Amino acid sequence: MSVQRRFTKFLGLAAVGAISIGLAACSSGGGSAEAGDDDLTTVGFVAVGPEGAWREANEKNIQETFTKDAGFDLKYAPATNLDQKSQIDAFTSFVDEGVDVILLSATEASGWEDSLSRAQEAEIPVILLDRGIEPDDTSLYVTRIAPDNVEVAKEVGAWAVETFPDGGNYITLEGPAGVGVVNERNEGWDASVDGSKLVEVAAQTANWSAEEGKSVTETLLKANGNDIQLIFAQNDEMGLGAAQAVEEAGLKPGVDVKIATIDGTAAAMEALANGQLSYVHEYNPLFGETALDVVEKTLAGDSVESYIIVPSEAFDSPEAAQAVLADRKY
Ligand code: AHR
Repeated sequence: MSVQRRFTKFLGLAAVGAISIGLAACSSGGGSAEAGDDDLTTVGFVAVGPEGAWREANEKNIQETFTKDAGFDLKYAPATNLDQKSQIDAFTSFVDEGVDVILLSATEASGWEDSLSRAQEAEIPVILLDRGIEPDDTSLYVTRIAPDNVEVAKEVGAWAVETFPDGGNYITLEGPAGVGVVNERNEGWDASVDGSKLVEVAAQTANWSAEEGKSVTETLLKANGNDIQLIFAQNDEMGLGAAQAVEEAGLKPGVDVKIATIDGTAAAMEALANGQLSYVHEYNPLFGETALDVVEKTLAGDSVESYIIVPSEAFDSPEAAQAVLADRKY
């Protein structure tokens, strides 16, 4: 029976940062559910869509988890060319349609207050997947499920400082401006690297892409006379593109220039195994089961933490990558 929501109250339990929503399943009030789908919980997934290997793994995992056999009618709404307006339009449609819950992976961190408030007025819980919102008003959503970007990037920075005790020049290849995880990764990296002997000679977006990672790195290597010893790429694709640029500049990745990335996708793990990359921090995209558990708890009125951190491992050598390559799931 689709969940007919009787709104009781949002309890912001400051002590544990949990948010409990009093939702009681009542006799179905109908809604737009088609015959035969009445027993399914309708989930509106405002997704990012095609963006790279990490996103593909993440969204495939969500779709493979929220199946009709599991009791869900998942309505997948990928952004059009990463455009936030298309996401806001999809979000609004889900609210108007009266879905039971909305999953949101935001292409932009800011600009969500009105949409989230509308969902709240309509008593539709919203769960953030991966991407956060800015300003982070935790009263507007149930929880965010993601690896801890600040901590992940802090660990990458700690590896860099340990690897370059006498310092060196580095460049940062960032994701697109305005994306929440980019700010979080810069925050974590800076927390480890500030005060060390490492010197950032440039930071530039390469928009998560291998092609741009390569072209930006080519330009920055030329601008700095190849005097770059380290590249911090905020995702795998940009790091793999950077490795190509390093090679084409006549330098050896892993020897002349060490490259550290975030995500842990198959291509990056293979590149770490063969020495093209020097450090890969996983940003585990496979949290569909966690999301399903959170949806079920939320709709049952149980409390959930306001930020659910997905564990993610670091890999710092070819041997570490080779040891897990056969078992990788993305
Ligand atoms: O929000 C997660 C980031 O988005 C990943 O690190 C990147 O690969 C993806 O495009």
